[in-house]
Amino acid sequence: NDAIAIAIDGPAAAGKSTVAKIVAQELSYIYIDTGAMYRAITFKALEQKVKLDDETTLIDLLVHTDIELKHGQSVLLDEQDVTHEIRSEMVSNNVSHVAKHPEIRIEMVKRQQELAKKRGVVMDGRDIGTHVIPDAEVKVFLIATVEERAKRRYEENLKKGFSSNLEQLKKEIEQRDLIDTKREAAPLLKADDAIEIDTTSLSINDVASLILSEVEKVT
Ligand code: C5P
Repeated sequence: NDAIAIAIDGPAAAGKSTVAKIVAQELSYIYIDTGAMYRAITFKALEQKVKLDDETTLIDLLVHTDIELKHGQSVLLDEQDVTHEIRSEMVSNNVSHVAKHPEIRIEMVKRQQELAKKRGVVMDGRDIGTHVIPDAEVKVFLIATVEERAKRRYEENLKKGFSSNLEQLKKEIEQRDLIDTKREAAPLLKADDAIEIDTTSLSINDVASLILSEVEKVT
């Protein structure tokens, strides 16, 4: 079977990464979490107190920054492990402000296209099917109600050992989706040829199976 590219897009906390990892594992493909790349540069910008509306300084920072996604899903920022740091609320609530800058997106897309060149990849994000891999053989757009997405994030946090405010989570997710959807440069959008899957009442394995059956159709 020829290796293909699978693009998974959708709003925040729709289960993209969980499903993408399962699909990648099943196919022995590489999973590429593009959100982690935007998170990593956001973490660095916050550390260095760069103003997040200063696109010129941000792009200069990014071109001098090495971001590596390791197979076990650890994230290296200039060789330092920031896997956990980039999931902080601080990063989550600021990343969309960094990701909206066109210059930042151009550089990120260039890096992501390099990673997807050889196929055999499952890539998730907001603009994978529309901009990063417009010729992906399988494109999926995952959605779920914001209530369900906030609930999942809440339970994920509990598992990690901390409790959060459900209403607050819901507001943060809505805010992030709003910025991602309204931005000029490559906004969050379903590609015309993407299959939309509403995961609200589906299990993770149901969603993975649906995607794998789409993969079977084209391979
Ligand atoms: O997927 P995740 O929630 O980790 O993404 C964090 C943020 O990074 C998104 O809210 C969005 O602002 C940005 N992002 C993006 N394009 C991508 C992936 C993520 O703009 N392909």
